[in-house]
Amino acid sequence: MQNNTRHFSIIGVLVVIFTFVVYWVLDAVLQFPIQGSTQAVAIDSMIQGHLWIIAFLFSLVTVFMVYSLFLFRRREGDDEEGQYFHGHTGLEIAWTVLPMIVVIAFGYWATVMLADITKRQDNEIVINAEGFQWGWNFSLPNSDQISQELILPVDMPIRMDMTSKDVLHNFWVPEFRVKQDIVPGRTTHLRFTPTVEGDYTLICSELCGLNHTGMIAKVRVVPQAEFATFWSQEVQTASSK
Ligand code: CUA
Repeated sequence: MQNNTRHFSIIGVLVVIFTFVVYWVLDAVLQFPIQGSTQAVAIDSMIQGHLWIIAFLFSLVTVFMVYSLFLFRRREGDDEEGQYFHGHTGLEIAWTVLPMIVVIAFGYWATVMLADITKRQDNEIVINAEGFQWGWNFSLPNSDQISQELILPVDMPIRMDMTSKDVLHNFWVPEFRVKQDIVPGRTTHLRFTPTVEGDYTLICSELCGLNHTGMIAKVRVVPQAEFATFWSQEVQTASSK
């Protein structure tokens, strides 16, 4: 028993060390585009949380296995049978209940976050998007002006109201981290708040025919005044209030 405590202590330390190493490797390998919206920050924190759990579980299994294979291997001249034992109720309860708690905790975290990043904002700006084979039209409600470029005001909550002329499409700007299907015959919505001025690319993320991969649009996140000028109308933005 004394000996087992020593083994478990060593394994515990090794698992902690390997968890940090595996997390560091995962984090270095998974190069994400910049966080271009408030939603991106929240979603990335959840991805980090998952990476920590993945790193820990991988280390736990691997360290236990390699440690046991190495330390308890059959030595020269050892013909003994291994010790026989059957089951371990405490262990089985532990490895059922602990993962269940982790899954429920992540489920709770995700539910609260989803409600938060999709919730309606009082000052949100509505922009219409129409997807078609194979391109995009953008417009503001109560405006005849149509743009093939999506111009967005920085630091303002946006609600995209999206329709399709023909088949399923999907609105996806990787830097914003959120995406939403566009369904013929109905209007779907997507909320995000762009936080970094610059050029982005909107990518259709639902297979929609021959030129699906060409169904992209330029996205520009610009100062709020420039957004208002582009649409040549009084747009109620934060700076005009
Ligand atoms: Cu539209 Cu793919």
